[in-house]
Amino acid sequence: MSTNVTGLEHEITLNSLRQQKSAGNKFVCIALYDSAMAALAAGAGIETIIVGDSLGMTIQGQNSTLPVTIDHMIYHTSAVKRGNQHSLIIADLPFMAYSTVEKALSNAALLMQAGAHMVKLEGGDWLCDTVRKLSERGIPVCAHLGLTPQSVNKIGGYRVQGRSEEQAKKILADAKMLEQAGADMLVLECVPKTLTDTIANKTNILTIGIGAGTATDGQVLVINDLLGITTKAPKFSKNFLENTNSIQKALQNYAIAVKECKFPEEKHSFQ
Ligand code: KIV
Repeated sequence: MSTNVTGLEHEITLNSLRQQKSAGNKFVCIALYDSAMAALAAGAGIETIIVGDSLGMTIQGQNSTLPVTIDHMIYHTSAVKRGNQHSLIIADLPFMAYSTVEKALSNAALLMQAGAHMVKLEGGDWLCDTVRKLSERGIPVCAHLGLTPQSVNKIGGYRVQGRSEEQAKKILADAKMLEQAGADMLVLECVPKTLTDTIANKTNILTIGIGAGTATDGQVLVINDLLGITTKAPKFSKNFLENTNSIQKALQNYAIAVKECKFPEEKHSFQ
């Protein structure tokens, strides 16, 4: 049976995503940064958008996400919102924009006022107090574990995380603590698929994977990777534009592949 993806007709909410999770259905996410692509994502039935600080690389040509500022994030979040009234929009809090609880609250407010429905931040147990405070004040939080690009200098490169038993235990413990603190969603980036399986079994939080296997509730790809306009494609990505000459069709094919559990394949995952 083939999946028929149609444009979104209703606003996607955390509740509707939780219902999809309960029904065992996958949801689709894409990282993008502008109004035109955001409109195409709605047309392809893509339920969630991350306005990612990956724009440092994809839009600005930087070699990391560190130069991205809260003003850049506000600009792109409002552009995405103008192009798409239906997908759930998750905006990244950029490097050092949540270094204290107070900074997190005021910067998250700016992103929500620009059109985000949720903010995303990178890190583990040290963020629990911040997550709790944001959540108490009505700001949904997406946590981000595994490869956390804002820590690239500490990690020593863009590499798979959680391969050792010690690291895997820490990531699992962080996931549980962040859920307890009130995080509503969790991005898992570049972790072994067995670790994703464990996190999916031991938590109830909505999960989105990128290079994290198939056990997450949703999948995300960066639009540049999905359209094959990256100089060096990561192992976990797939060029969905390759066999079509339409960006709208490429996005639809991506959405169908996620929903039918045909993407990611084994070759896109890490051991
Ligand atoms: O910045 C980004 O685009 C992201 C996604 C890849 C998850 O964090």
